[in-house]
Amino acid sequence: MTEALGLTAEQLAAIGPGALALDVADGMIENVIGTYALPFAVAVNFVVDGADVFVPMVVEEPSVVAAASNAARMARPAGFTTQVSPPLTIGQIQVTNVRDVVAGAAALRAAADELLGDARQLVPRLTERGGGPRAFEVRTLATSGPDGGMLVAHLHVDCRDAMGANLVNTLCEALADRVAELAGGRAGLRILSNLADGRTVRVRCSIEDAMLAAEGASGSEVRAAIAGASRFAELDPYRAATHNKGIMNGVDAVLVATGQDWRAVEAGAHAFAALGEGYKPLAVWRERDGGLDGELVMPLAVGTVGGAVHVHPSAQLALAIADIGGRTDRLAAIAGAAGLATNLAALKALATEGIQRGHMALHARGLARAAGATGELIERVAAELAATGEVKAERAREVLARMVKESP
Ligand code: MEV
Repeated sequence: MTEALGLTAEQLAAIGPGALALDVADGMIENVIGTYALPFAVAVNFVVDGADVFVPMVVEEPSVVAAASNAARMARPAGFTTQVSPPLTIGQIQVTNVRDVVAGAAALRAAADELLGDARQLVPRLTERGGGPRAFEVRTLATSGPDGGMLVAHLHVDCRDAMGANLVNTLCEALADRVAELAGGRAGLRILSNLADGRTVRVRCSIEDAMLAAEGASGSEVRAAIAGASRFAELDPYRAATHNKGIMNGVDAVLVATGQDWRAVEAGAHAFAALGEGYKPLAVWRERDGGLDGELVMPLAVGTVGGAVHVHPSAQLALAIADIGGRTDRLAAIAGAAGLATNLAALKALATEGIQRGHMALHARGLARAAGATGELIERVAAELAATGEVKAERAREVLARMVKESP
């Protein structure tokens, strides 16, 4: 695999043991006592917007990388196509104890240009690079209550290649007093919103029936079953949560590999899923003549500058493997494609044989290793465990002992 990727020994060291030096880790967070490794893998078969891409993934759960690669193979003929919105992040300035929220909101709206101008002056370099504050809007939250009248001002900032949290928080803090003064109230919280609905990715793929066929089920049967699974998620928030978890399996694995704030994306994804009437699936699947169409829409705030990206050597390597050329929109597109892929793979497995068979095969390999099997014995022990259906640690030890005894 590493040969196919064309990685040098020096590059590989960036994902080797101890890649994150203790002094670097110590500079990242507080009270550091060590580092924590996770498997770093590469999903294959992906075509995103017409270009082949290796997808770096860091995840502890078995099957996720295989699932992504299998689904990407199904989608490969047409590939994944994406639309990524401009990188607009919302900053919120809360104003409490507003005497008259109608008058306060009107005053703020009238001063929108002045406030945007002030904000732009605070980020001249970002503005020069084509980003910066874009819009200012006001929402009324309460006319009275424990906090008096409450308004919130939204500052929409084009963050270019940054995820934007620091940038937007700084702007909100700088504008807050003037906003409160204009609104006739008191400045409250000043922080970005992780409901990044101005910063979305839309990913589509189209799968032919021939690619969907499974053991004991024709392509058209699998297609109908996946569309049915999608309708289930659209009708039931309990199912939608699990459906979305399957999407985040792919998205998060790419985000962790590339040093992104995956908690921010998680928070945004679920808040977005809950906008409107009830919690909904982020991706839906529809049947068409001879195939299946999938579409994912979700907020995906990522950055290629700032945060852990520059500090963590493995994140740097992940970005090089994904070959994004410093483009944040490309990173969002690839992470979104990984999410639609893991969703497709999960629905196909659930709609046909169920996911336990695949999980059990991987679990059996893990047990064989834990029992002490090495080399080809891992597969042989695992195969026997899976065939007998007794996927247990004790049985793995027995089978291994017998095989070692029998071997010449
Ligand atoms: C497991 O990590 C993810 C699934 O539960 C997703 C789904 O049910 O769609 C298999």
